[in-house]
Parts: sequence; C-alpha cells; structure tokens
Amino acid sequence: MSSVPYLTHKGIFFPAVASYTEEYLRYVENEFQLMDDDVVNVTYPKSGTNWMAEILSLIRKDGDPTWVRNVFLWDRVPWFETATSQSTILNYTPPRFMSSHLPFQLFPKSFLRSKAKVIYTVRNPKDVLVSFFHFSNSFKILKDPGNMQDFMDTFLRGDVIYGSWFDHVKGWLAMKDMPNFFLITYEELQQDLRGSVERICRFLGKELTSQQIDSVVENASFETMKNNKMSNFTQVPNDMMDHSKGKLMRKGKSGTWKSCLTVAQNEHFDRVYQENMRGVTVTFPWD
Ligand code: A3P
Repeated sequence: MSSVPYLTHKGIFFPAVASYTEEYLRYVENEFQLMDDDVVNVTYPKSGTNWMAEILSLIRKDGDPTWVRNVFLWDRVPWFETATSQSTILNYTPPRFMSSHLPFQLFPKSFLRSKAKVIYTVRNPKDVLVSFFHFSNSFKILKDPGNMQDFMDTFLRGDVIYGSWFDHVKGWLAMKDMPNFFLITYEELQQDLRGSVERICRFLGKELTSQQIDSVVENASFETMKNNKMSNFTQVPNDMMDHSKGKLMRKGKSGTWKSCLTVAQNEHFDRVYQENMRGVTVTFPWD
C-alpha cells in the first residue's frame, strides 16, 4: 500500500492536497450561502458525478453542446468543497450549477434555509466499488487500493475518501421527501436516459423541446463524453492522474462487478449491505 496521506475532517477522509483544507471545509459547512436558484449535483464518488454534470451542463444550455465542448467540466459545474473552486463559484453567473461529494452532515447548513436544489445520484455500491478500485490505481491523490479483496475491506469499512457509502446514502436519503431534493440512480440513467433527462428538467422547472432533449441525450452519451476532452479527464495534469493506468470513462455500464468479485466476496458484500441498510425504505434497482 502506498503512503499517500489523507486529511481527516470530522472522521471523514479527504485527499491531502492543497484544495482540501479543514478551514475551508468548516467554512463550506457553516458559512457558505446556498442561493435559492443554485443546483447541486451531489454523489458519493464513482456514482456518475461527471455524467450528471454533463447532463446538467447541456440542460442549462438548452441542449446546445457548444459549452460542454469548449469549457472544462470542472469549471462548468465546479466542486464547491475545494478551496480552489471558490473563485469560479463566486464569479459564476446564476443560476449556479455545482458538484459535491460531501456527506449530508458536512453539507452547507444554509441548504436547509434555502430553496437550492440537490440532485442526488446513487449507484449500485458493487459497481461503485469496482469503479473506485480502478480509479484509485490512476488517480495519484488516492491511496493505492491494493488488490480487490483489500479494497473491498477498505470500502466496506468506509476508510476511503468521503467516508462510508452506507452512511453517505442514508444521510442523504433523509432528505428524500423535501421538494428541493431529487433522487435518481445511475441505473435509471442507463436504462432510460431520455426519460431521466425529462424528469430532471421537470424538477429544475426547465422546459426543453423534444429536439433539445434529443441533443442532451446524444451529447451526454458514454461515447460522446468519452471523446470530449473537456469532460473525459484526459486533460487532468499528469502529476494528479497517471493516464497510463486508467481513465474516468472506463466501462460506463451497470453490473461490471459480476466479473470482478468472487462468489465469496459477493456474499460478504451482500451481508454487510443487508446489515447496514436495515430500516431503509427506498428500494433501489439492484435490491
Ligand atoms: P466505470 O468506472 O464503471 O466505467 P464519477 O463521475 O462519479 O467519478 O463516476 C465515474 C463512472 O461513471 C465511471 O464508471 C464512468 O465510466 C461512468 N460514466 C461517466 N460518464 C458516463 C456516461 N456518459 N454514461 C455512462 N457512464 C458514465
């Protein structure tokens, strides 16, 4: 295992790089003011964050792909818990579209006093595990995952950046009946991207024509995003990502865990899942 250090803030790991500081995380939680017309793309890592960011960027521009083809994804839908995004966010012409991986307890408290909208995308945690494992091999600010068994143990303990998948999902599900909270799964996006885009538009109060929706769907497809250098992470600097070891746009499918986990690993995962999700009333596509 490599010795890449992590920052620990309130029991949660974050990458130990300049963009994450305890001071800024405290500021985000306690002082950052969400505005009523803000839209926040919230996910646990590897759950389709960048896909949703692309969809939202295209919806914002009524399906016109010019913006997504010319501006980096992280500038279109900036990360609000990183100090390095602060100026982008402060200079953003409203409505601001932002992304966050923060667990609910560290999310800006101002959310509860605002009408800001949160779109929370959840993904089958077994696919999250596999995606996270591969990404950890290439993203240099993440600890070396070891082998799949090592990483599964680490993941199920929640000893990864942004903490436990179970805690993250359960924390955010507490918001599920709020009118400004929209829950969607990666699997729904996969099964019916057009229908999902229509639902997202309704939630945002955005009326797009049928042709504009077609354009969102086409430009947010795996193939198109994979070839868009503004979105596919190929422009992430080499000191942060070893491009020879992996890519963001890896498989883009549901269920790839089936060829990665042994029967015993899958059974163990299921047991931990059942224990942790006891009492959760939402049924997910993978349940
Ligand atoms: P895989 O590693 O399983 O391929 P995040 O953006 O949260 O880091 O999630 C990354 C995962 O989303 C990767 O999964 C990636 O391939 C997938 N993804 C990104 N864009 C996608 C798209 N347009 N369609 C389907 N999957 C996409």
